[in-house]
Amino acid sequence: MAETGKDINKAKHLLERGELVAIPTETVYGLAANALNVDAVLKIFQVKNRPRFDPLIIHVSSLDEVSQYATDIPLNARALAEAFWPGPLTLLLPKKNIVPDLVTAGLPTVGIRCPDHPLTHRLLESLDFPLAAPSANPFGYISPTTPAHVADQLGDQIPYILDGGPCEVGIESTIVGFDNEGGTVLRTGGLKIEDIEHIIGKVKLQLTTSSNPTAPGQLHSHYAPKKKLLTGDLEKLLAQHDLLKTGVLSFQKDHHAPFQYILSPSGDLQEAARNFFSALRTLDALPVDIILAEFAPEAGLGRAMNDRLSRASFEH
Ligand code: TXA
Ligand code: MG
Repeated sequence: MAETGKDINKAKHLLERGELVAIPTETVYGLAANALNVDAVLKIFQVKNRPRFDPLIIHVSSLDEVSQYATDIPLNARALAEAFWPGPLTLLLPKKNIVPDLVTAGLPTVGIRCPDHPLTHRLLESLDFPLAAPSANPFGYISPTTPAHVADQLGDQIPYILDGGPCEVGIESTIVGFDNEGGTVLRTGGLKIEDIEHIIGKVKLQLTTSSNPTAPGQLHSHYAPKKKLLTGDLEKLLAQHDLLKTGVLSFQKDHHAPFQYILSPSGDLQEAARNFFSALRTLDALPVDIILAEFAPEAGLGRAMNDRLSRASFEH
């Protein structure tokens, strides 16, 4: 079973030996390996049961490091990094050869981000390589936002979980790519599109889901609980289900259901995002047959939550 602790040196030594360590970030916990060591990166794919065509994000301690891994940093990318790093923003940049093809699944771009968490920041500063890290969950399942979530699912496969407490943002980073015309958001996330547009102007949205490996971002069915998840108007859905066998994920309102999780009674999107994955996990573990969920308002972090809900409810 993985040891959980706050020992940065222990994490560092394991990573230097090519082992995996779960690391805290402000978004979700990551399953980290030396991004420049192919054998170590391979372990990530094995432990997560992740298809090789799904590329990984690499994590750095500052913007200064990016030029070691990217051949070019477009002005818009630099402006966003200056405004929002460390923070929940991943930039897709043309990769240098030093980044193994396994990391980028053969794509010409590499996703890079500088996470905002004091422990992980110190860890990254102490290493002389970047960390490749996907969310620390089995492929397709709900992302982890506490060390216990990681231990529950991957604890028997990794030696160490660096304990940085619960994640502050609670939803993955926003992914942005660049071309001559400007920015394109490929995954909505913890950084609001509104904030991005404030810096670089209007961005395109390319969130279309696909199992096509060259279509970046996410697959259709993702972030999914084991129970069936239905989304829609909760009052209507509740009328059609046996309340004693039904979990309810409400954004704000109290629906008086016995197995109910309210993400933010005050309707605060940040609070809701922080609770989101944890709530899905809690509901998934209850003795219910189905989970009913409603969408948050489609703005700010609501967009990222709604994206995750749609994918979690995709029928396969
Ligand atoms: O907040 C986050 O981004 C977290 C923490 C741990 O940093 N990481 C994370 O990684 O969410 P992961 O692997 O669960 O999701 C990364 C997504 C994948 O769906 C992948 O397809 C996409 O980023 N991605 C990575 N590199 C890409 C690239 N070069 N082009 C397009 N999409 C890319
Ligand atoms: Mg993930």
